[in-house]
Amino acid sequence: MVAYYDSIAQQYKKSKELPFRLHIEAYTYFNLLGDLTEKTVLDLACGEGFYTRQFKRNGAARVVGVEISEKMLELAIQEEAREPQDIEYILGNVLELGKIGSFDLVVASYLLNYCQTKEQLLKVCQNIFTNLKPGGRFVTINNNGEQPPASYLFTEKYGFIKSIDELLQEGTPIKYTVYADEQKFSFDNYYLSTAIHEWAFRSAGFKEVRWQKPKVSPEGVEEFGQEFWQDFLEYAPILAIECR
Ligand SMILES: C[S@@+](CC[C@H](N)C(=O)[O-])C[C@H]1O[C@@H](n2cnc3c(N)ncnc32)[C@H](O)[C@@H]1O
Repeated sequence: MVAYYDSIAQQYKKSKELPFRLHIEAYTYFNLLGDLTEKTVLDLACGEGFYTRQFKRNGAARVVGVEISEKMLELAIQEEAREPQDIEYILGNVLELGKIGSFDLVVASYLLNYCQTKEQLLKVCQNIFTNLKPGGRFVTINNNGEQPPASYLFTEKYGFIKSIDELLQEGTPIKYTVYADEQKFSFDNYYLSTAIHEWAFRSAGFKEVRWQKPKVSPEGVEEFGQEFWQDFLEYAPILAIECR
């Protein structure tokens, strides 16, 4: 698992302003997360803290963020200094995390798609499971590896496209190119099938796995129209997963 976000930290932060982030990504994520009041939350691959801060704002009792990129974490810590929310940030690799606590919720947006092999995915899932209280939940937003490559260019109107240089198989890089604020930047995710994810979740100890297609917020429909979101909903470049 490689993390190269140091070089794109600012651009990535800016890309969180794209309309799909709010109207689909966040809307789908928070729907699945449910009420966070008084919950303890471990946010893995927290990046610059975009969601980490929202979890605390939405009533979580304790929020801990773990991130491998120093630059991303620096941005998160800057925000924490500017507006203290009592969020704990840890520089670390989720692959090597081990047990750091016992949380109601372990969450991650775009972490699993950095695993390049099923062994890495299993390790990450074990590190997720071990940090959950009995009965706790893991909720994640992830690249949808099953999006048909023929539809990769259909998402340009939302501010990003994917591309591949080879047929999808375990570990194939899927390049995201993001257009935000008249700038373009790229990063890779890696393909692992739904079946490998199911195997890793269950091998780590999860009993229930639920896959959730993206949904659009009523505000997003009102502002942009249903038609605008149709390709996103139909081809689902990203999805959410809940494990219990
Ligand atoms: C697409 S960004 C998402 C950041 C944040 N979760 C969000 O939604 O804004 C993915 C993040 O995962 C981090 N990451 C990738 N592999 C990691 C690992 N093994 N351990 C911790 N962080 C990792 C990257 O450095 C990057 O900040």
